[in-house]
Amino acid sequence: MTSVSSVSVNVASPVRQTTLPEVPPLGILYGIGVGPGDPEWITVKGLRLLQSVQVVAVPQNRQGEPGLAYAIAQQYLRPHQTLITLNLPFTTDPTQLETGWGQSMTTLLPHLRAGRNVAFLAEGDISFYSTFSHVARSAQLHEPGITIETVPGVCAPLAAASALNIPLSLWHEKVAILPALYEVSELDHALDWAEVVILMIVGAVFDLVWECLKGRDLLDHACLVEWVGWSQQKNWVGWQDLKGYKPPYFSVAIIKRQLNSAPFPKNM
Ligand SMILES: C[S@@+](CC[C@H](N)C(=O)[O-])C[C@H]1O[C@@H](n2cnc3c(N)ncnc32)[C@H](O)[C@@H]1O
Repeated sequence: MTSVSSVSVNVASPVRQTTLPEVPPLGILYGIGVGPGDPEWITVKGLRLLQSVQVVAVPQNRQGEPGLAYAIAQQYLRPHQTLITLNLPFTTDPTQLETGWGQSMTTLLPHLRAGRNVAFLAEGDISFYSTFSHVARSAQLHEPGITIETVPGVCAPLAAASALNIPLSLWHEKVAILPALYEVSELDHALDWAEVVILMIVGAVFDLVWECLKGRDLLDHACLVEWVGWSQQKNWVGWQDLKGYKPPYFSVAIIKRQLNSAPFPKNM
């Protein structure tokens, strides 16, 4: 006789699996310097990364429109990319600045948290007196795990030397860069120390600088480049005729104590 044994199968009650929503890895925040004017001054790497991201962020100008960095890089943007314009205040007031940097970050964070890479474009170089550095710090505070990568760009003083077709510095020459001038004694000090002095944001203090250079008999040693890399670029070599002149905000001054820098020959 064949016995049939019954096999009892232990059917476990189904386990209810709670699936947590997948958290995408954070997107990367790229800071890309697009150069001060000529769109061809962007680096190959900057261009590649700019075109690889889903989101492009640019600072607004005073009119609330996409600013200079956008105007420079606009032609490189792809139709599917999301453009974000950031309202970064034009002020030296620390509270307003902190608020502006924080708000910009609040705008960018949802994209980064959704795993989208973001490229912040800055005019000139990305680490040279650039708002990006502050926004990136704010990003780091809000999201400590974030990856931030910067891509350098041509900065205005180097572009200005190229526009003047001169060597900026040679041999032992020291170069001093003054971001803004609050006291003429700072300029005196720089001129005592360095053979080459570069003044950013020179427009606001041009009268003061002119008088100082006149007093030191250095007017023939000074150059000014306005809007370098733009169609409205203007170069001034020697400042004898510039008394009372009001250069625009986008102007950079180069003062060379030694006149060893005759321009290279150039077909004009
Ligand atoms: C806040 S700083 C920005 C510097 C910028 N990140 C760079 O790498 O050149 C602004 C100053 O840079 C200089 N600058 C920037 N772009 C310029 C341009 N296209 N022509 C002349 N000066 C420029 C001016 O002195 C201006 O006041």
